[in-house]
Formats: sequence, C-alpha cells, structure tokens
Amino acid sequence: MFRTSSLGVGGMATEPLKRFSTHDGPLARPGAPADPDTAPLVLRTARESDLPELRRLDQEVFGEVAYPAFLLRQLYDMYAEHFLVLDDGTGRLRGYVLAGTSALRADSWILGLGVAHDRRRHGLGRELMVAILGRLRRSGIKEVRLTVEPGNRAAVLLYRSLGFRPEGPDGGLRRDYFGPGMDRQILHLDLAARAAAPQG
Ligand SMILES: CC(C)(COP(=O)(O)OP(=O)(O)OC[C@H]1O[C@@H](n2cnc3c(N)ncnc32)[C@H](O)[C@@H]1OP(=O)(O)O)[C@@H](O)C(=O)NCCC(=O)NCCS
Repeated sequence: MFRTSSLGVGGMATEPLKRFSTHDGPLARPGAPADPDTAPLVLRTARESDLPELRRLDQEVFGEVAYPAFLLRQLYDMYAEHFLVLDDGTGRLRGYVLAGTSALRADSWILGLGVAHDRRRHGLGRELMVAILGRLRRSGIKEVRLTVEPGNRAAVLLYRSLGFRPEGPDGGLRRDYFGPGMDRQILHLDLAARAAAPQG
C-alpha cells in the first residue's frame, strides 16, 4: 500500500474482542446504546455514508500521510466491493482494508490497511487481510502486491505470515519509491498458487 503510519505501530488494545463476524450483517443489539470500547465489531463492505468516518480513521492511523478526502472518495468509487471496514456499531469504524484491482491483468494492490490504536494486537489486521484476500480470490484475482515501509515490523510480520514475499532484487527494497527518503519494500502474493495449495 502507499503509506505507513507516522504514528507508530505499537498501540495497545484495552480489552479483547467480544465477537467478530467475517460476514456482512446487522449490528449486535440493535437499538441498544453501545459502549464504544466494548461494542462487538462487524466486518462489512464500506458504504458511501462511511466516507467521513473512514477519513477520520485514516487520519488517526496515518496522520500526515492520510489520503486526501477527494482521493478516498474516488478510491471508494472505484473499488467499493474491495473496501472493507470494521464497524463497532456506535458510529465509529475501527479498521479498514482497501484493495485496488485490475480485471484485465487479474492483479491487485493493497492500497490501505489500518486498525485503530486501541484495537490493535487482537487479530483484526489479520482478519481484515484474510477477508480481503478471500474476496479477491473469489473475484478471480491471481496476484496481490503491496508496499510497506521496511521498518514497519508489525505490518511486515503480518504480511509475511500470510504468505507475502519480497518481489524483485534486493529483497524487494525500492529506494525513494515515494520520493526522496521514502523507501518501500514490495511484497507479492501468488493468490492462485495459494488457492491451489492445501488450506490450513
Ligand atoms: C499493521 C496493523 C494493521 C496490524 O493490525 P493488528 O490488528 O494490530 O494486527 P493483528 O493483531 O492481526 O496481528 C497480526 C500479526 O501482525 C504482527 N504484528 C502486529 N502488531 C505487531 C507488533 N506491534 N509487533 C510485532 N508484530 C506485530 C504479528 O505477526 C501478528 O501475528 P501474531 O498475533 O500471531 O503474533 C496495525 O498495526 C496498524 O494499523 N498499523 C498502522 C498502519 C499500518 O502500518 N498499516 C500497514 C501499512 S503497509
């Protein structure tokens, strides 16, 4: 993806996740006031009405390198079916993942992945990635790529555990990829080969 959070990767979660759905669905306890810190999360496709909250979350996670509102809007317009959010039912989103796809070449780039600071280290980043990879596979996508700041240990470990591997020479390191001093590592996942392999 394009960016790495400038706010660090070590946020601690305050409590364990109560329930997690990998399907679109209604929020738990409809009508009841929800506690934002304990509300169960629902993973669902992003909606147009999520855009202001997505912008807030993206800024929380990525700070000064957050997507501008206009670009987030256009990414949503292009890739809505591959834009997933974690909704806590209180009007707040706690995580998102976005993949851009090229139907012609059957490939894809992960363009954004972020989890709210107070919800990290509870498996949500992994759940978002597993869900988007499943959707991409069902859409016929065969290759997935992303960029990551080489020092972003949390993200690198997550991606590698999902089967992503460096692409190209120098361990996938591309110096000044996003401009002077903004090195990135390119990771690649062969989704077709993974689909053919026995699933754990
Ligand atoms: C990267 C990020 C999405 C991970 O989300 P998360 O919900 O905390 O991750 P998970 O709890 O699902 O952890 C999945 C794996 O990631 C790795 N990981 C996550 N956080 C880690 C940390 N602080 N230190 C080391 N490894 C970490 C581990 O391998 C972990 O697997 P394990 O729990 O079996 O050890 C989150 O840290 C984040 O939003 N970071 C800021 C935005 C960002 O950098 N996005 C990626 C840009 S390329």
